[in-house]
Amino acid sequence: MILAPSILAADFGILAEQIKKAESSGAEWLHIDVMDGHFVPNMSFAMPVIKSIRKYTDMFFDVHLMITEPERYIDAFIDSGADGITFHIEAAENPSRCIELIKSRGKRAGISIKPATPVSEIEEYLDKVDMVLVMSVEPGYGGQTYMNGVNDKIRYIREKMGGGFDIEVDGGITADNIDTALNAGANVIVAGTAVFSGDIEESVKKLLR
Ligand code: DX5
Ligand code: ZN
Repeated sequence: MILAPSILAADFGILAEQIKKAESSGAEWLHIDVMDGHFVPNMSFAMPVIKSIRKYTDMFFDVHLMITEPERYIDAFIDSGADGITFHIEAAENPSRCIELIKSRGKRAGISIKPATPVSEIEEYLDKVDMVLVMSVEPGYGGQTYMNGVNDKIRYIREKMGGGFDIEVDGGITADNIDTALNAGANVIVAGTAVFSGDIEESVKKLLR
């Protein structure tokens, strides 16, 4: 499994230090939640923060765009240091164009579905993307509870795409429920609160399998 700590739950006053702790404890990816106050009710941060932290780590920057019109900003997020960009099917007017934009820059493309969006909405793009991000909470806030209803979606995608495909699950992951997501077929696990609300090293070790 790959652990992707979400910096949304980090202390931004000492962000670089917290990222380095997560990295040295064994987390391989860094999950970066971008919110626009429009696609989701909350706002977070964008390019300047990503650009700033890029110089402190070589971790894979897994940028999760919770924004409308993602196609307008893909280049800018790649310029700021993203290694992979995931956009929401509910937000993209032309999902194929988004995937092409990301891939033409040599980056990994991900497509995401909210808890109420069925897999059928992204079925036609599965062969074109490198990853599916299955949201296990309503996007917008950290610290919510994992929705078990998404496990069937993960199972379906794993069965259809086989072993080499990346399925990321995001929202409400704890050391107690991480195995549920892994057993359903997810292999990239996002965790915000579970990594950054206590001792980072200990928390990462509790989550890694
Ligand atoms: C929610 C974000 C998540 C969030 C996860 O909109 O996409 O990545 O930061 O936070 P926890 O792990 O606290 O649920
Ligand atoms: Zn996220």
